[in-house]
Amino acid sequence: MTEFQEKSTVTARESLAGDVFRLTVQAPRIAAAAQPGQFVMVRVGDTLDPLLRRPLSIHQVLPDGGLRLLFKVVGKGTGLLAELGPGRKIDLIGPLGRGFSLAPAGSACLIGGGMGMAPLYFLAQRLLRGKPGPGHDQVLLGARNRAELSLPAAEFSGLGYPLHLATDDGSLGHHGFVPELLDDVLPSVRQVYVCGPYPMMRMVALKCRTAGVACQVSLETHMACGLGVCLGCAVTVAAGGYKHVCKDGPVFAADEVLWKM
Ligand SMILES: Cc1cc2nc3c(=O)[nH]c(=O)nc-3n(C[C@H](O)[C@H](O)[C@H](O)COP(=O)(O)OP(=O)(O)OC[C@H]3O[C@@H](n4cnc5c(N)ncnc54)[C@H](O)[C@@H]3O)c2cc1C
Ligand code: FES
Repeated sequence: MTEFQEKSTVTARESLAGDVFRLTVQAPRIAAAAQPGQFVMVRVGDTLDPLLRRPLSIHQVLPDGGLRLLFKVVGKGTGLLAELGPGRKIDLIGPLGRGFSLAPAGSACLIGGGMGMAPLYFLAQRLLRGKPGPGHDQVLLGARNRAELSLPAAEFSGLGYPLHLATDDGSLGHHGFVPELLDDVLPSVRQVYVCGPYPMMRMVALKCRTAGVACQVSLETHMACGLGVCLGCAVTVAAGGYKHVCKDGPVFAADEVLWKM
């Protein structure tokens, strides 16, 4: 797999909902090589603090060599990123990791919770390649509230996908968690792709295993290097031993993961 280091220019910064931002950058080499589910390691500033790059999923690839990142401000690194306006430079390494395997025939269900929606939009776009529309594929999205969910929902809907929505506060769609929506759709699905908080992915993985449906999960861990060097992103796997989320993942077959209770 080829990765690049690009000094990119920010072309747009959008505030989507309070602490959620979308950054558009010009990174043509990374954009051309990127596959859904892969990520970039972002240097968030020019100073030594924070020293480490931050991993962010590739949210969208644009035809003009642009890349979009969708992120929530949770600490210093993402806080600095949220301050970068158009014209500012940003150093990226990517595309990194193993992304989603595009399943053969059969309908797919894409499930995103919170910022787990980020890699799924790129996947949703790619699944449409060479097809007139999404067919029986569908998208399940969950977030804290309407503000956080409205724009992503509109964008998936713009691609033609039927949507099932859930919010923690009930302000949009089902009042509750997104895996609760899965029972109704699972009987007609052949492949599930999920990204979101760990308990949510664990619940989806379990439901898929019970129903005999293939499931791919995109795991999140702390990452110091993102390049397979520091070994800080190791997770235990069901077959025994460890895998590294940055190199072997972040996408894994759900049954490969040793889910912790
Ligand atoms: C492959 C991958 C893709 C990701 N894609 C996205 C994305 O598209 N959008 C997005 O908003 N976030 C994404 N993340 C998470 C993102 O990397 C972290 O939120 C970010 O690094 C936090 O940096 P910070 O300096 O703002 O916060 P810090 O100050 O480093 O941390 C703030 C808080 O968040 C927790 N935290 C930080 N990183 C992680 C993590 N990886 N897993 C669990 N808890 C963490 C810390 O323990 C701490 O409590 C991704 C993570 C990985 C591994
Ligand atoms: S983050 Fe360093 S090995 Fe994975």
